Amino acid sequence: MAVYDTIRLPKKARVEDDYKLRLWYRLPGEARVERNIKMEQIMTNRLDRGFMRYQNEFEEAALRVLRSGWYITGRELTAFEEAYAAYCGASYCVGCGNGLDALTLACRAIGCGKGDEVIVQGNTFIASVMGISIAGATPVFAEPDENYQLDPAGIEEKITENTKAVMVVHLYGQAAKMEEIAAVCRKHKLKLIEDCAQSHGARYHGKMTGTFGDIGCFSFYPSKNLGCFGDGGAVITNSEEYRDRIRLLRNYGSKVRYYNEEVGMNSRLDEIQAALLSVRLKHLPELIEERRELAKRYLAGIQNEKIHLPQLQEGADHVFHQFVLRCKDRDALMKYLEERKISTIIHYPVPPHLAQAYADLGYREGDLPITERYAKEVVSIPMFNGLTREEQDYVIDAINAF
Ligand SMILES: Cc1ncc(COP(=O)(O)O)c(C=O)c1O
Repeated sequence: MAVYDTIRLPKKARVEDDYKLRLWYRLPGEARVERNIKMEQIMTNRLDRGFMRYQNEFEEAALRVLRSGWYITGRELTAFEEAYAAYCGASYCVGCGNGLDALTLACRAIGCGKGDEVIVQGNTFIASVMGISIAGATPVFAEPDENYQLDPAGIEEKITENTKAVMVVHLYGQAAKMEEIAAVCRKHKLKLIEDCAQSHGARYHGKMTGTFGDIGCFSFYPSKNLGCFGDGGAVITNSEEYRDRIRLLRNYGSKVRYYNEEVGMNSRLDEIQAALLSVRLKHLPELIEERRELAKRYLAGIQNEKIHLPQLQEGADHVFHQFVLRCKDRDALMKYLEERKISTIIHYPVPPHLAQAYADLGYREGDLPITERYAKEVVSIPMFNGLTREEQDYVIDAINAF
């Protein structure tokens, strides 16, 4: 039974020991009723709610494309690319197949390949690292700061004569300290790539993430703050050269059909996804505002000395792609919440330097102590557009009672 979809719980609804909600309500003309309601699991994300809110607009956009007879690299893609570049304050946007491809294309466009090293933070989703590897370069891991972002203070010690670029990941939706990181890159003549897969609309000192470096890379995976209904991605840049090279590489290395200049990829953002993204982009400011409001309620409501709350970095307006707690007893907390029908997830349990996929790089446990500590302690709690106040209060009460 979808309790929260059909009944607005009164303020007095309390979490009971038997993990059910005890609900008081009054029907017209009747006395107060007290009932136990079996709770529906509170998921870490509910994409259906994101769809339902703008259902008519999404359906209209999808039908428009289906009826057009044009499905790849057409008007919808151009319209979205222009709108997204304008939203970000970048000169150009080039759509592609997904976030991993955006990162790979960016690394290739700046000329990163065999023998080159790219410095990247240890605590990221593996795609950031694989983008570097697929381009042929070698990832070199650095430690994050107290806000989970690449620590500018640790970059210089990782630079060698082979270092070609730094890749910054605005993890969980909060910008890294970009002015300091960009200054290190300028000083050492390194390229700067931003992985913005989690930071659509997040700014640092008023400037959009993705516009500090040479190329900003986005994923539009369905759960992202700007998500499509399948896979999708894009890069933004102010460089005509990078724009043209990425357009070439995403399309089999060809500008003119069947004339291939180099070995490229097939990585295009198709027309339906572009049309659906244009709908979502129109609403992105209000969607981000809603996430910020939810985050504010969590920050004010969760009061438990065993829980470390996210810290707000000065000048960075967090868009809360994830709401990430830290807890020394993380696994017990997750089990406790699951018993109370609250889903949680770890972003990310295995840091890439210790992943089997990267065993040949020769890293060992203990090489990146801050990254490894975060991997053992972080846990993300439900955060999505459409999370109700009642659900949130239930989560807050449960965490406070842990
Ligand atoms: C930080 C980060 N980088 C890259 C990606 C890869 O994006 P995609 O899944 O679209 O390939 C994701 C998301 O999945 C991500 O969270």
